[in-house]
Amino acid sequence: MDAVLSSTPLIPADGIERRIREMAAEIRRETPGPLHIVAVLKGAFIFLADLVRQLGGEVTIDFISLSSYGASTTSSGTVRLVNDIEAAIDGRDILVVEDIVDSGVTLAFLLETLRARQPRTLRTACLLSKPSRREVQVAVEYVGFTLDDQFVVGYGLDLAERYRNLPHIFTIAPESAPR
Ligand code: IMP
Ligand code: MG
Repeated sequence: MDAVLSSTPLIPADGIERRIREMAAEIRRETPGPLHIVAVLKGAFIFLADLVRQLGGEVTIDFISLSSYGASTTSSGTVRLVNDIEAAIDGRDILVVEDIVDSGVTLAFLLETLRARQPRTLRTACLLSKPSRREVQVAVEYVGFTLDDQFVVGYGLDLAERYRNLPHIFTIAPESAPR
């Protein structure tokens, strides 16, 4: 059955664009030098593309894939590294780029994994955050938008792999949301 998307966007494309410009400026104020980005596939791909074009300066980009056992669209509590980054990150300034932080389980695992490799700094930029859903406390330095407990799609975010291509962010009706 097709999911029911909100008739108007929760966050329209122009609002996302404006916020990303602010986030990029904030990131560059704190880390003006070479920045190595670790982007989390797949959800972050559009956010990454827009963010890096606002960052300026020296930027290198790596991708990582993680998956959680069991659950299809939300984290089950156990995270697995599916595809690692290519570069060594010791002594470097690292920025994790993630689409959304929900329970925090995925990001907590990722940060722990990367921190063990001794980067100089390790910060995180998330387009979206749902603090009321947090099960694991995790620090996120740059948050685009804070959401209530609602499932969203578009702008890279999916429901069973669909809707990533929508330019705006929409909410999904509770009856078609994955929980
Ligand atoms: P966490 O480990 O619970 O924080 O889950 C993070 C992952 O769950 C994200 O990277 C998304 O892939 C997925 N996720 C959580 N909430 C949503 C949502 O509202 N829409 C789409 N994907 C979501
Ligand atoms: Mg997903």
